[in-house]
Amino acid sequence: MSLFSSATQRIPKVTAVPKHIAVIMDGNGRWARKRFLPRIAGHKRGVETVRELVKQCVKLNVEFLTLFAFSSENWRRPPEEVSFLMGLFMDALEREVVKLHQNNIKLVMIGDRSQFEAKLIEQIEASERLTAGNTGLVLTIAANYGGRWDILQAMNKMQVALPELAGKYQEENLQPYLSMSYAPEPDLFIRTGGEMRISNFLLWQLAYTELYFTDTLWPDFNEDAFSLAIQSYEKRERRFGRTSEQLQKPKP
Ligand code: IPE
Ligand code: IPE
Ligand code: MG
Repeated sequence: MSLFSSATQRIPKVTAVPKHIAVIMDGNGRWARKRFLPRIAGHKRGVETVRELVKQCVKLNVEFLTLFAFSSENWRRPPEEVSFLMGLFMDALEREVVKLHQNNIKLVMIGDRSQFEAKLIEQIEASERLTAGNTGLVLTIAANYGGRWDILQAMNKMQVALPELAGKYQEENLQPYLSMSYAPEPDLFIRTGGEMRISNFLLWQLAYTELYFTDTLWPDFNEDAFSLAIQSYEKRERRFGRTSEQLQKPKP
């Protein structure tokens, strides 16, 4: 039995504030180019936006915040940019983890970390260990993550664990092996930077997530911009397949 029910199996309870927000932090490069700065300057500024957003989520009592930091396709970028991003990830972990811990935030990293350098893997493991017992916001960083990779690695583990069910697998058999089995499915997905695509993020988990796209570039995504996303979410009618009439409260 998995901890959280799936939106396709059971209708989830909807809360005013999203319990889980997943974000594609896009537009760093364009933010920098607009200022005649190298792309990496945008990535550096983007870390500050992360810090601010984490604060906002704690204030709002969001339970899970999941950030897409590096996709399995981002290795296709110029090698200098890839190594800058890896370095930035390492620095940010080193600098921020104590503060996260003091704020009772639990840090989790999802994605295929086997391709990272040994010292980055150690830093990730140390950060996860330090914050493992925290009970506040769960901050998940998706690095070298791809939605298809996630589904495939889960399928392979499921098949090894439950060979006797071959040909008869159900959602609940797969769910425990997905990277985010510890979290409910995202209520709200935000993508900054103007593109309207999922870019191989949480493919399985976004089945019934409310999608929000904004032209605001990630380094400019401040408290006001985040409020607009939350306001948009508040206006959504989450039907999960039902009709609008079914959602109206029965008359007394
Ligand atoms: C998102 O910003 C950060 C990562 C993908 C690591 P981009 O670097 O994609 O910025 P744009 O899309 O080129 O503006
Ligand atoms: C998606 O952004 C990945 C991250 C934000 C980490 P990209 O900028 O790489 O996405 P595409 O390639 O434009 O779809
Ligand atoms: Mg981009």
